[in-house]
Amino acid sequence: MGMSRAEIFAKAKEIAEIPYDAAKEPDVKIPPYNGAENSPDPWINGSSKTPATTVRRTRELNKVCDSVLDLIGNTPLVKFTRIAKAMGLDHHDINGKMEFFSGGGSIKDRIALRMFEDAENEGRIKPGDTIIEPTSGNTGMGLCVVAAVKGYNVIICMPKKMSGEKINSMETLGALILRTENSAAWNDMSSHIGLAMRLQKQLPNAHVLDQYWNVANPLAHYDTTAEEILEQMDNDIDIVVCGAGTGGTITGISRKVKEKCPKCIIVGVDPYGSILATPDNLNDKSERSDAGRLKGYQVEGIGYDFIPTSLDRRNIDAWVKTDDDEGFACARGLIRHEGLFVGGSCGTALAGMVKYLRQSGLADPSSEKKRIVVVCPDGTRNYMSKFLDPAWMAKIGMSDAKDLNLFPNAPSV
Ligand SMILES: Cc1ncc(COP(=O)(O)O)c(C=O)c1O
Repeated sequence: MGMSRAEIFAKAKEIAEIPYDAAKEPDVKIPPYNGAENSPDPWINGSSKTPATTVRRTRELNKVCDSVLDLIGNTPLVKFTRIAKAMGLDHHDINGKMEFFSGGGSIKDRIALRMFEDAENEGRIKPGDTIIEPTSGNTGMGLCVVAAVKGYNVIICMPKKMSGEKINSMETLGALILRTENSAAWNDMSSHIGLAMRLQKQLPNAHVLDQYWNVANPLAHYDTTAEEILEQMDNDIDIVVCGAGTGGTITGISRKVKEKCPKCIIVGVDPYGSILATPDNLNDKSERSDAGRLKGYQVEGIGYDFIPTSLDRRNIDAWVKTDDDEGFACARGLIRHEGLFVGGSCGTALAGMVKYLRQSGLADPSSEKKRIVVVCPDGTRNYMSKFLDPAWMAKIGMSDAKDLNLFPNAPSV
């Protein structure tokens, strides 16, 4: 008889409470994440052009869906006409890829399903096993949704910074959530990554699918997110703007878009505090706030203190850095002007777009019209007690980024 879910969770809590001891746990290793170019996988490192598989599901809403898994991906692209006008940028065609319409509520549903199904198809996991994942939340949520339908146990290791809403949702989906210190560096055994690797060694039938390493992460976006965007834009896109956490989204989208629409510029958006942007000196310091290299920041889901193997920065034409206040002002602006209940990193992506247009001379109303896509990874569901709440905004000293004059033409009604 194997261990019950309750016994596995009790053992996991026990392990999490004991500080890591190298002498007692010599086999635990943190993977050597170091960017896509250093991956052993030929597709992710760029030595082979052919991805391992090509899977694309389409959502058949005129038929009965079998489960929430049929509702993952196939998200709408929505014109940002009204916010573009408020921003004085309506000479461009700006569109948002709205991932909160996905079954589990975020862009990470796509990779959760793909990582599960690739591992199942390769015989690495089976229902009843325990899936452990270090995540800032949305991958965890996606994994919990897939696991609830397919019948797996899930343990999520997550930094304390991430919102309480995500925890309540994942616990309701049957997962165990273990919190780690925000300040722990990625390669410290007390980080969310270190804890996941420790648990995997000690629990029976336990697996870390590892979004930072797994090629299924960028492939999910190469095969689905990017294909959808290209189809929705008739293969004619001038600029894609996208944040990066694991980098799976921007890596998968940039590769496919560059193949099918080579003229398209890919803009990566990275919050101050993170070090994903290149050239590296961009990460040093914000010109308008105290934010800077490896200092804490509030926006969730994007930015890291290491370069995930799922992030290929070679297809990214330009990086822009953002401050928390401008990202939250843009997220609140998307709700106010478009009625779209987006998450914080969507606002960050939009703020990044504004910065890119300004620095490239494209904010000038006489500049050539560009067809733009902004990737919006999740919805407000995860942040009801955070940037949606004016009291929280005030508590952390967030202004409306008025010095940036983001909404010069906002309507007065
Ligand atoms: C809210 C949010 N935005 C953006 C991202 C970044 O996506 P990726 O990990 O594909 O770079 C994530 C990833 O967790 C996220 O949760």
